[in-house]
Amino acid sequence: MEKIEIQGNTGHSNIFVGERLKNLASYLHQRQVVIITDDNVAGFYEKEFPKTHVIRVGTGEGCKTLETVERIYQQLIELEADRSVFLLGIGGGIVCDITGFVASTYLRGVEFGYAPTTLLSQVDASVGGKTGVNFMGYKNMVGVFNQPEFVVCDPTVLATLPRRELVSGFAEIVKHAAIADELYFTYLEKNAAKALALEPEVLQQIIYDSVVIKTDIVNRDETEKGERRKLNFGHTFGHAIEKTTGVSHGEAVSMGMVVAAELSASKNMLTSNEVNRIKHLLQLFKLPTETRMDYDPVVDALARDKKREGSSIHFVLLAGIGRAVIDRITIAELENVLKG
Ligand SMILES: NC(=O)c1ccc[n+]([C@@H]2O[C@H](COP(=O)([O-])OP(=O)(O)OC[C@H]3O[C@@H](n4cnc5c(N)ncnc54)[C@H](O)[C@@H]3O)[C@@H](O)[C@H]2O)c1
Ligand SMILES: [Zn+2]
Repeated sequence: MEKIEIQGNTGHSNIFVGERLKNLASYLHQRQVVIITDDNVAGFYEKEFPKTHVIRVGTGEGCKTLETVERIYQQLIELEADRSVFLLGIGGGIVCDITGFVASTYLRGVEFGYAPTTLLSQVDASVGGKTGVNFMGYKNMVGVFNQPEFVVCDPTVLATLPRRELVSGFAEIVKHAAIADELYFTYLEKNAAKALALEPEVLQQIIYDSVVIKTDIVNRDETEKGERRKLNFGHTFGHAIEKTTGVSHGEAVSMGMVVAAELSASKNMLTSNEVNRIKHLLQLFKLPTETRMDYDPVVDALARDKKREGSSIHFVLLAGIGRAVIDRITIAELENVLKG
C-alpha cells in the first residue's frame, strides 16, 4: 500500500492506494459514521462495508442533485447526527461528489472520507477537493472546494466495473501522462494490455502515478487559477463533443485530446510522431481517436463555452509529451485544424 498527501488551503488529505475496502473500519476511529453509497455499489460490496448506517442514492447524473442532498440531510437529522458525525462515501465520482458536498454543508461542515470504487473516481474525482452537484441541467453548478480526511483506493473492486466505465478512467490516465510525465506515458504504452486485464501490480502502479500527478498539480493550484487548468487537456473540446453527440465523457475526452494534439502540431509544438503516439496509446485503451465528424454543432457549443474570452479560447496544448502549456487559440484556428 502507498500513501500520498495533499496539503490544501481547504484541508489536509491522505490518499491510500492499494488498501482493501474491508479494512476501512481501521480509518474510522470509532466515531459515529454514516456511509453514503449507490445501489450498484451496495449490491456488490455492502458485506465488506464497516458495520454502520448506510444511506443509498440512485445511479446516474440525474441523481446528482440538490433533491438527493436534501434527502440525505433529512436522514442525517433522523439519525440525530451531530457535528461529530463522519460521512464516508463509497462509490464512483457521483457518490464522492455528493458526499463531499453534503459533508461540507451539513451543520456548516462535518468530517468526511472517500472509498472511490470506479477507476475514474480513484484517479480523478476523489482527488483534489472539488465537491458538488448538478443544477438546472448544468453539470457541477453548485459546490465547494473541500478536502476529504482520507481517500482509500482498493483496485480489486474494479473487477466488477463495467468495461465502458473502466475505459473512461483510462482516458483520464492517458491525460495525466500526456500533460505531465513522459516516462509514465512510455510505461502505459508498454503495459496497456496488462492494465486492461486488471493485472494488480500494473493497476496499482497506474493509480498511484496518476494520483501523484493530480496531487502535485492541485497542491500548486488548489482553486484552479492557473496550473490546475492543465487538467483540462482534451476537455475543452471534449465537453463540447459530449454535449452535442452524447458519447461518454471518456470517449469525448479521448477525441478532445486528439484534437488538442493536432492543434499543437499545427503550431509546431508537437511532431507528427508524437501525435501518432498519443493516438496509438488511446487506441490501446480502446478509446476512439477518429475525429472526423460534423463539427459545426461542436464548434458552436465551444464558442458558447464559459472558457471563452473575446474571440479566443483558453486551450491546453502540448509542447512535447509530458509538457502541457496553456495557450489561447481562435475559433478560426480550431476550424482550420478540424477541416484539416
Ligand atoms: N470532483 C472532481 O474533481 C471530479 C472529477 C472528475 C469527475 N467528477 C464527477 O464524477 C462523476 C463521474 O464519476 P464516475 O465515472 O465514477 O461515475 P459514477 O459514479 O456514475 O459510476 C459509474 C457507474 O459504475 C457503478 N459502479 C461504481 N463502482 C462500481 C464497482 N466497483 N463495480 C461495479 N459498478 C460500479 C456506479 O453505480 C455507476 O453506475 C461525474 O458526475 C463527474 O462530474 C468529479
Ligand atoms: Zn474528465
